[in-house]
Amino acid sequence: MREALEQLRNQALEEVDRAATVADLDQVRVRTIGKKGALTQLLRGLGQVSADQRPLLGELANQVKEAFNQAFAARLEALKDSALEAQLTREGLDVTLSGRQRPPGGVHPITRALGEIGDIFQAMGFFTATGPEVESDWHNFEALNIPADHPAREMHDTFYLPPGPDGEKRVLRTHTSPVQIRVMEGSRPPLRVIAPGKVFRCDSDLTHTPMFHQVEGFMVDRNVHFGHLKGLLEAFLRRFFERDLPVRFRPSFFPFTEPSAEVDMGCLFCAGRGCRVCKGGGWLEVLGCGMIHPVVLGNVGIDRERFSGFAFGMGVERLAMLKYGINDLRTFYENDVRFLESHAGL
Ligand code: PHE
Repeated sequence: MREALEQLRNQALEEVDRAATVADLDQVRVRTIGKKGALTQLLRGLGQVSADQRPLLGELANQVKEAFNQAFAARLEALKDSALEAQLTREGLDVTLSGRQRPPGGVHPITRALGEIGDIFQAMGFFTATGPEVESDWHNFEALNIPADHPAREMHDTFYLPPGPDGEKRVLRTHTSPVQIRVMEGSRPPLRVIAPGKVFRCDSDLTHTPMFHQVEGFMVDRNVHFGHLKGLLEAFLRRFFERDLPVRFRPSFFPFTEPSAEVDMGCLFCAGRGCRVCKGGGWLEVLGCGMIHPVVLGNVGIDRERFSGFAFGMGVERLAMLKYGINDLRTFYENDVRFLESHAGL
């Protein structure tokens, strides 16, 4: 019995030392002092031992158990420490590393300008509508009071397309004004709408690209007059350019508005003194607008006795160039990463 106890102690202590994980160690505990463990079994046998031997063996058994418990506790502590150590190494974070660079790329200046224009009109109660880029001759021209033989068609440098399946004449839209027609055909006043999008004209040089962007805007309601148009566009330009600009309206002509006007704002670069950008005049032309022509209202079945409206259209590239100080129109479409990075809005 004594030998058995001593052997058990030596073996158990050795196993404790060898246990490589907390789980291994626990196995050793179960094998040794668990309910069916070796030491537990031996202690049960103590009853059969003679009375004079029993206290000595009992004491020895207690010492073995005590030694085991101590070794077990120490090993458990050590294993836990090294497990924590390993976890910390694994999840290590080098706080001396410099931060990550923002990945290259961002919002294209045209998208950025469209967003800023949209935000301003949205805040003034305008909803956004869109229309197709492949447009019918009716929506792009006829309904806008531009008949087939009208000289105004020449201003538009139209890309004509083969007729649609129903024989309808089609074009790439030359402006966003057809969205006015589509919205007015489909809904009744009061209307306050902007229509941003791509437009196409067969023209390409330093200051023209065959595709560019416009934002159309219009309002139709009872008693809408030119004063509303003036106030709205002045407020828009001052918000978009973030300064108290002078704005002036010059009489002009569009077949779909009467009266029509072109809108100029004081040159941003010389405060009206005259510079290269404004060609010495001190003014920059930025918008076309007018009161919606009664013929146009008639074409979409809006009662022109009860309702009136205004409309305006602006070129997004031009506004973006002026606001962000971009001096070459073509850079918008070359996708030179250096240009995109230097104008990337976030
Ligand atoms: N559609 C006109 C253009 O492209 C701009 C415009 C829109 C003018 C609405 C008046 C009213 O030149």
